[in-house]
Amino acid sequence: MQLINKKILITGATSGIGLKLVEKLYPKNKLFIIARNQNKINELQINFPDIIVYTADFKNISELQNVVKQLQLATLSLDVLINNAAVQYTPTFIDSDFKSSPLTMKSPLISPPYAACVIYCCRC
Ligand SMILES: NC(=O)c1ccc[n+]([C@@H]2O[C@H](COP(=O)([O-])OP(=O)(O)OC[C@H]3O[C@@H](n4cnc5c(N)ncnc54)[C@H](OP(=O)(O)O)[C@@H]3O)[C@@H](O)[C@H]2O)c1
Repeated sequence: MQLINKKILITGATSGIGLKLVEKLYPKNKLFIIARNQNKINELQINFPDIIVYTADFKNISELQNVVKQLQLATLSLDVLINNAAVQYTPTFIDSDFKSSPLTMKSPLISPPYAACVIYCCRC
């Protein structure tokens, strides 16, 4: 499948799989990014200057709400959502007290509804 001339929102695009997707999809598509690490954002913008970047930590609801508003102002629609941002922690039964498990859960649990909200709001 080829994605060309689409408006694509990618979360977690500053490293790993998300960054690889940016490399694949830029510049044939209009990319919107939500990221939190300013140093990584700066680097991304140097390498991919046409990307539209919004800053938010997905654990912070008010930051996400703010980004939704900014996106609504910037674009009337999005074609594709790549909801990739998450933290992955894999505790073992032997050496973990599972204290980090909520951190693993939080991002995937909170982000999909808000990401869907972004898509919905942008289509209104
Ligand atoms: N790699 C694998 O083998 C594998 C296997 C199965 C599933 N996955 C899933 O695939 C996705 C990407 O994996 P990856 O290996 O590419 O991970 P990664 O290199 O750690 O990248 C994760 C990205 O998500 C961002 N992120 C994490 N928490 C965030 C938050 N609260 N707010 C905003 N951004 C946040 C990170 O930003 P920062 O740089 O600011 O932290 C980073 O850009 C994850 O959902 C992971 O669970 C990966």
